[in-house]
Amino acid sequence: MSRRVSPLESERADYRPRVPAVLGAGIGTVAVREGGTPVPPVASDDDEIRARFPTTHGRPAVELAAGRDRVAADPLRVGVVLSGGQAPGGHNVIAGLADALRAIHAGSRLFGFLRGPNGILTNRHDELTAERVGPFRNTGGFDMIGSGRDKIESDEQLAKSLEVCRGLDLDGLVVVGGDDSNTNAAVLSEYFATHGQKTVVVGVPKTIDGDLKGGGIEASFGFDTATRVYGELIGNICRDARSAGKYWHFIRLMGRSASHVTVECALRTQVNVALVAEEAEQRGWTLDHVADSVADVVRRRAAAGRNYGVCLVPEGLIEFIPEMRGLISELNRILTAEGEAVERLDSADDKRALVASKLSQAGAKVFGSLPVLIQRQLLIDRDAHGNVQVSKIETESLILSEVAERVEAWNASGEFAGKFSAMCHFFGYEGRCAPPSNFDADYTYALGRLAAALVAHRRTGYVCAIQNLAAPPDEWRAAGVPLTSLLAIETRKGRRTPVIRKALVRLDAEPFLSFARERERWQVDDEFMYPGPIQYFGPPEVCSVPTRTLELERAASASTRGR
Ligand code: FBP
Repeated sequence: MSRRVSPLESERADYRPRVPAVLGAGIGTVAVREGGTPVPPVASDDDEIRARFPTTHGRPAVELAAGRDRVAADPLRVGVVLSGGQAPGGHNVIAGLADALRAIHAGSRLFGFLRGPNGILTNRHDELTAERVGPFRNTGGFDMIGSGRDKIESDEQLAKSLEVCRGLDLDGLVVVGGDDSNTNAAVLSEYFATHGQKTVVVGVPKTIDGDLKGGGIEASFGFDTATRVYGELIGNICRDARSAGKYWHFIRLMGRSASHVTVECALRTQVNVALVAEEAEQRGWTLDHVADSVADVVRRRAAAGRNYGVCLVPEGLIEFIPEMRGLISELNRILTAEGEAVERLDSADDKRALVASKLSQAGAKVFGSLPVLIQRQLLIDRDAHGNVQVSKIETESLILSEVAERVEAWNASGEFAGKFSAMCHFFGYEGRCAPPSNFDADYTYALGRLAAALVAHRRTGYVCAIQNLAAPPDEWRAAGVPLTSLLAIETRKGRRTPVIRKALVRLDAEPFLSFARERERWQVDDEFMYPGPIQYFGPPEVCSVPTRTLELERAASASTRGR
């Protein structure tokens, strides 16, 4: 029995994503032009990266151009894997890949590994025929094949992946993921190349966090849609707060580390306060400092008769406040060493007491200052690598309780002339599987087609880079950036490891600067903006505008070029 679909889904099924001409009907004859050697971000690591990636490092960036010769004489066999957190548009990457592979050769076949990289390791896959892909076009989510957070790192896992790709006789493997998954793609690509395996590995930049960018990648897919969903919700809350005039809302927003989501949402909604984790880190702010600054806005608004407001809190904040970062790394160490002893204790209070007794003086002071709820969350919620899972820590309620303490003290001393009543929200999962905006639907479909072209041209170790994204799709460029050019060496778990670093919010770049110029005005006066829901149909200025982040970055780079 076929599934009943919503009217929007049914209408969106007919949406034809827009792509630049080079990725259009001529994809079967598209050519590749080499375009210079990209400079690795950390030049001092270059020798080490070259030694670890002797076959794939040092290749030039490439760009697609119209060509005349057929790209592939034989059918292609390609695998695709969705890795990490969901991001709107993943299905269109697969649709673009499937369509382009068949346009390149009608006999080509696409296989989707199930539930992320683990599907490769366990050789679980489905063939993605046109019939299988069809119902998922322009839909959100990753449920066509599922996703997962496993990594392919150990020698055994690399060997297993090779065996599976060899067994399926794959010409290409497309890895759709964030910084870690694309790092894995670089490692796999080198491993296959040095072991004589023909499978070329191509990465696709995905994450709602927006922190996989730079070095030729302008944006990760999903950021546009997710921030529009959060922007709508935040705008609605701003209006509710202003209408009722009686609540402060503390809203935590996803973004594992970087605050791009928060900055974008702040620019779109002009909330009263938006904390930026990178600013807290660079200015060395303490938790007290952060709480003081928010409480000050609460006090000033109350003095102006506004006992309401909206404060955005990026989920990464907790790890970027230097004293909290110190505490978290001490806790990680203690829980790795004493995990079993802690587990054996029955009561949460005993666990907290045991851990607290192992902390340094400074760590114990910070830990002791936190509400019990946060202390517990810092102890309980850890990922498979023993690290704290920030999406499970209620940082917004931590900030709220710190602010409430200050307001109470002012109340007691008669310094506060108003009321303070607040509530908390967390927006994250709400945005990750939304139907992709027109931008993300177009962008991801283009990424999928580009991935097919790179596989067909046997360009291994490249990440797809659609460029000029702030312009309409017919002006986009289709490029491939060598993955190793994005790598740096970091010490992880005591070992020097090549990684693609997360691109954090830069305090000297235009999106943050623009926010910083305006925020003072938004604090006390109400200058809220209400973006409303994503529009899929209608005038282009409503349904086809890039994010504020992309617009501001484009304006800044245009003005630098013009100088
Ligand atoms: P990716 O970078 O893997 O796309 O995931 C981003 C993210 O949505 C973060 O914003 C969030 O902290 C995390 O995933 C939540 O992870 P999980 O889905 O495992 O709860």
